[in-house]
Amino acid sequence: MKKLAIIMAVIASFCLVAVAFAAEPDTVTISSKVYAKHTKGLVKFTHKKHTVDYKIGCADCHHVYKDGKNVWKKGDPVKKCDSCHSVAKPMAQLSPQEKKQMASPELAFHKNCKGCHMKAKKEGKKAPVACTQCHAK
Ligand code: HEC
Ligand code: HEC
Ligand code: HEC
Ligand code: HEC
Repeated sequence: MKKLAIIMAVIASFCLVAVAFAAEPDTVTISSKVYAKHTKGLVKFTHKKHTVDYKIGCADCHHVYKDGKNVWKKGDPVKKCDSCHSVAKPMAQLSPQEKKQMASPELAFHKNCKGCHMKAKKEGKKAPVACTQCHAK
């Protein structure tokens, strides 16, 4: 019995380590599954560089809104962006309401990624804003 308990404890600690390693991906190829077909090349995102080298806080990108406030904190589960920003229509077909809600992945990602890059560029940093700097050809 005691031996079993020790084995269980060892397994449990390995699981914890696995969870800790899964916490933040090194790089992500962003590919929202709501798009049946992408019209642009998939975007390779240097996740860890953004948090470690560029020092951007997790909650600048990850959120769960409750009463208009972001209640997501480091360690909470992370859902794919397109599980909420899930309308796959191209920009021109979105209603004004859908635009206001950032309903499509395209809108949500462009606001998040390009929005910050535009500000960063003004501060003299090398953050990409041209299409092919993000979308591989
Ligand atoms: C600059 C934006 C940005 C920052 C900062 C950021 N993330 Fe992410 N993160 C993303 C994007 C984008 C994805 C991919 C989501 C998708 O594909 O829908 C992601 C994915 C993840 C995933 C993987 C989810 C999965 O499905 O595999 C985890 C876990 C995660 N982030 C945790 C963190 C933690 C912890 C921090 C802070 C140390 C952080 N993120 C900071 C943008 C960011
Ligand atoms: C759990 C659902 C959910 C997930 C997951 C989610 N969002 Fe959101 N997001 C929302 C809601 C709700 C709003 C507020 C929309 C509104 O104002 O009506 C929002 C607003 C935004 C906005 C506009 C406000 C702002 O913060 O600038 C952007 C940009 C955005 N999300 C990008 C992302 C990105 C990128 C991801 C993935 C890293 C993501 N969202 C994941 C629900 C979500
Ligand atoms: C809050 C600010 C911020 C957000 C949000 C952000 N970035 Fe960046 N990103 C930067 C900065 C700053 C740099 C340039 C840093 C430098 O070179 O000094 C950068 C650089 C890059 C680069 C070129 C260098 C590299 O690391 O590959 C790519 C590609 C990139 N970002 C993609 C993205 C994508 C895709 C998203 C959205 C999922 C995103 N970024 C969201 C701030 C941001
Ligand atoms: C800072 C990085 C970045 C830049 C610059 C950028 N995009 Fe995107 N774009 C993304 C990301 C991330 C997505 C989300 C992809 C997904 O959800 O699978 C996206 C999604 C899209 C989509 C919808 C998905 C698809 O492939 O059909 C289109 C269309 C698009 N972008 C066009 C453009 C055009 C045109 C430009 C230049 C004017 C541009 N993007 C510039 C990061 C960027």
